[in-house]
Amino acid sequence: MFKLSRAYALISMAVSTLSANTSPAMKYAAIEAGGANASVKVDICTGDIGTGCANIPIDSGSCINLDGGLVFFNKEISTAIIPYGTQCTFFEDFGCFSEQGAADSVSLAGGTWNFSHVPGAAEITVDFNDLTSSFNCSQILLPQN
Ligand SMILES: *[C@@H]1O[C@H](CO)[C@@H](O)[C@H](O)[C@H]1NC(C)=O
Ligand SMILES: *[C@@H]1O[C@H](CO)[C@@H](O)[C@H](O)[C@H]1NC(C)=O
Ligand SMILES: *[C@@H]1O[C@H](CO)[C@@H](O)[C@H](O)[C@H]1NC(C)=O
Repeated sequence: MFKLSRAYALISMAVSTLSANTSPAMKYAAIEAGGANASVKVDICTGDIGTGCANIPIDSGSCINLDGGLVFFNKEISTAIIPYGTQCTFFEDFGCFSEQGAADSVSLAGGTWNFSHVPGAAEITVDFNDLTSSFNCSQILLPQN
């Protein structure tokens, strides 16, 4: 009985230490970081936002080819909504392939984008309308308070 209550006391101490050192914001951030990828989705549209769109779940790092079930979007993306905290690169080629030094991809941060004027390399605005054949995204770890 003594041993049992001692064990219980140790566990309670460990739990209260954990609670004391972990602010609600930190716990929230940890949950967000752990479960974020599955819930992140990017909207791609063939027309204006809301026209001919698909809401694509993003598996961080993997390449999404606009073939198979997504062939409707191949060389047709005109607008996109990328969630805050996510960065996506859109490629002219399939397989998220970019030729060294070529202006055949654009990298876009979270926001609503019109592919007719997006930031290209060297801060120059480029027209990437109807050019995308593949894209990939990654999540950027945002600073937590
Ligand atoms: C979520 O994304 C991060 C950053 O790209 C990655 O390191 C991590 O392995 C991913 N987690 C899951 C569960 O896919
Ligand atoms: C995107 O830009 C093009 C060219 O400036 C314009 O014609 C089109 O209406 C714009 N689309 C949206 C959704 O703003
Ligand atoms: C996207 O693919 C390119 C080329 O394969 C790779 O260099 C890059 O790291 C990938 N980006 C993400 C966010 O996975």
